[in-house]
Amino acid sequence: MDDLFMKNILVTGGAGFIGSHVVRRFVNAYPEYRITNLDALTYAGNLENLRDVEDRENYRFVKGDITDGEAMMALFREEAFDGVVHLAAESHVDRSIANPSAFVMTNVIGTVNLLNAARTAWADGFEGKLFYHISTDEVYGTLGSDGMFTEETAYDPHSPYSASKASSDHFVRAYHDTYGLPAVISNCSNNYGSFQFPEKLIPLFINNICNNKPLPVYGKGENIRDWLWVVDHASAIDVIYHNGKQGETYNIGGNNEWTNIALIRLLCGIMDRKLGRSEGESEKLISYVTDRAGHDFRYAIDSSKLQQELGWTPSSRFEEGLEKTVDWYLANSEWLERVTSKAYRRYYKETYGIH
Ligand code: NAD
Ligand code: TYD
Repeated sequence: MDDLFMKNILVTGGAGFIGSHVVRRFVNAYPEYRITNLDALTYAGNLENLRDVEDRENYRFVKGDITDGEAMMALFREEAFDGVVHLAAESHVDRSIANPSAFVMTNVIGTVNLLNAARTAWADGFEGKLFYHISTDEVYGTLGSDGMFTEETAYDPHSPYSASKASSDHFVRAYHDTYGLPAVISNCSNNYGSFQFPEKLIPLFINNICNNKPLPVYGKGENIRDWLWVVDHASAIDVIYHNGKQGETYNIGGNNEWTNIALIRLLCGIMDRKLGRSEGESEKLISYVTDRAGHDFRYAIDSSKLQQELGWTPSSRFEEGLEKTVDWYLANSEWLERVTSKAYRRYYKETYGIH
């Protein structure tokens, strides 16, 4: 690496939704760091998400697949990374129900490959090194109507996605406890914001409303999620990367619980206004469909450890954040069009056998 840079950081999955916000934040906030974005560019990875930073001197992109253990070893041999912020993953619960193996490969084997590469590359000493693993609150399973997930909540994953993330979390802890690998983990609630692939609830429904397509609400729409603006997640990751204690876990959440149906009604109202439609028009697209198998009822995160120990707070009120998010998707209809084009559908069908 060029001596110009103080730290050399590998971000995996930086072409995805959250990863692109993390790359943007680190590239802008830390010109003294060199940021390498490693991404396999699956259906969910899109270099367009990083157009505003792609020419920066402290940024570079490497196409690579974390399931390829030898390639990861080689990359870590070539580059003296000081830190890893690991976001690369298969991330959609419905896809994990259709094809669990892909989730084991990337989320479990891929994570272990990175841990092995880091451990080998850092064999001379762990001083100044950090492996930061980004995970989800879904590892804790589901809540009833009361209570919140804390860092002490026992793992109880239900979907193949959350089982694969739970497994990867356990491996990160095992490498910390067994080999002393300097590691930290955060578990975050549902994110929303720009550049999210329109398979997840909010961008899917924005896209469908624009195109007058049905809004498939699973079950009765009574499941509850805790929504956090993706930019606030990126700021939490920045704080934890720099100030988090090694070996610790931090929960990240928005303290912002919504039933799906209430969120969808709010979204429909915003869309009616933005599209100049009469009140109630978008809600007519709501279509109740068969519930997701093993659908977790409620997620709610207690993030007081992060707030009290590291001083992080979320910045955005949900109603405003959602409106800004809608504005972004409407202003970036070409982005939406490209990621939902035939090329994408062909990939989806060939890889997963579903539409
Ligand atoms: P995403 O699906 O938008 O992006 C994942 C990225 O990983 C894509 O760019 C993809 O190309 C890349 N990738 C996938 N497989 C790869 C492989 N084998 N090798 C290299 N790159 C690969 O996901 P996201 O929503 O941005 O989530 C990022 C991380 O944050 C994941 O680890 C996820 O579990 C976690 N997380 C997500 C949320 C959420 O609400 N989206 C909440 C909490 C935690
Ligand atoms: P999603 O965005 O897939 O995130 P996660 O499953 O990781 O929480 O889904 C958010 C909620 O919305 C979840 O309870 C499932 C529900 N949902 C629907 O009702 N319809 C849909 O088409 C999708 C994608 C999700």
